[in-house]
Amino acid sequence: MTRPSNDCLLRALLREPTEQTPIWLMRQAGRYLPEYCETRRRAGSFLQLCRNPALACEVTLQPLTRYDLDAAILFSDILTVPDAMGLGLYFTDGEGPRFERPLREEWAIRDLSAPDPWDHLRYVMDAVSEIRRALNNSVPLIGFAGSPYTLACYMVEGASSSDYRHIKRMLYERPDLLHRILSVTADAVSRYLNAQIDSGAQAVMIFDSWGGSLSAAAYREFSLPYLQRIVASLIRERDGERVPSIVFTKGGGLWLESIAATGCDAIGLDWTIDIGEARRRVGHLVALQGNLDPGVLFASPNRVAAEARKVLDSYGLDNTGHVFNLGHGISQFTPPENVTALVGAVHEHSRISGKKRHEMPLAG
Ligand code: CP3
Repeated sequence: MTRPSNDCLLRALLREPTEQTPIWLMRQAGRYLPEYCETRRRAGSFLQLCRNPALACEVTLQPLTRYDLDAAILFSDILTVPDAMGLGLYFTDGEGPRFERPLREEWAIRDLSAPDPWDHLRYVMDAVSEIRRALNNSVPLIGFAGSPYTLACYMVEGASSSDYRHIKRMLYERPDLLHRILSVTADAVSRYLNAQIDSGAQAVMIFDSWGGSLSAAAYREFSLPYLQRIVASLIRERDGERVPSIVFTKGGGLWLESIAATGCDAIGLDWTIDIGEARRRVGHLVALQGNLDPGVLFASPNRVAAEARKVLDSYGLDNTGHVFNLGHGISQFTPPENVTALVGAVHEHSRISGKKRHEMPLAG
């Protein structure tokens, strides 16, 4: 299998030079796009959309039809894994995800086992293969999963939470039970990501969206080791091509050195850290993905372009190792035309900076 004709994303993740900074957006297929809402209506619900490979493929491609993006991301959800573990995922309008059977009892935690992705999550593997065929090697496809700690938040709380009181109580009172959940989930995520790679995913990202709610010590004990275990278990090369991995701990700016030490190829950054500072700290070890505040997309197209240029300038004239993204998922209230302005500004400004780089007299 050859590299996609636009391989900027893969090159940037491996810290190889690119002509322009590649860009994709977390949640790039979502409710801010009217065509997404139309397909979702046809599917009946968000979950039915995830479970239908043809429709999941259709919505994966929608943002690429509209915008000059440098990657596709599988349309699915991180919560498909605990669903396959038997917790019974459902969505209620306006309240987000919920589980019918949250993990609170010791016997249920002891009973937990890692599902076979080729059996219980076959619809995801079918979607990955179908999207790869439809992309026809134009841009790479990113696969993903949730981190064990982030998945455990939903599994134990049973829903989104503002205070995480059930999981925090477990963490401090019964760390043995939480470690058991995390260990089984890490195993499930490893198998799930490797099955996605076997089905055609060309890079993978681990979303540790709630890792940042932990104390530094708790992060070191309950999130980091499981991230490291997953990264170490990933298929590194497929058909002669490296399959880079990205770890995104939202709120993890203080712990970049530890995250880099997991062995991942790239770190996803939220918008609270200056990307130039992050690069000085870990840029010699990993590529960086991010990190525009998604709230910038509520401003005018000119302001969006100006703010995007600030992120590029902070990373530096030499853009090697930078994948442009938002610091978190795109809001459903984003005007779609602002994304056009963002993608254009990132490509244009990074090409101009690249030219300047070549014209600069050699130092020394
Ligand atoms: O990035 C992409 O475009 C790929 C698809 C993707 C979705 N969810 C689609 C989705 C990815 C990578 C995710 C990851 C995910 N899911 C995370 C980690 C990233 C993050 O946001 O921190 C989390 C925590 C979830 C769990 C989840 N799924 C929540 C909390 C919600 C409700 C939030 C909301 O916006 O209502 C979802 C639903 C969801 N996942 C939607 C989409 C497009 C909206 C569903 C809809 O159409 O109603």
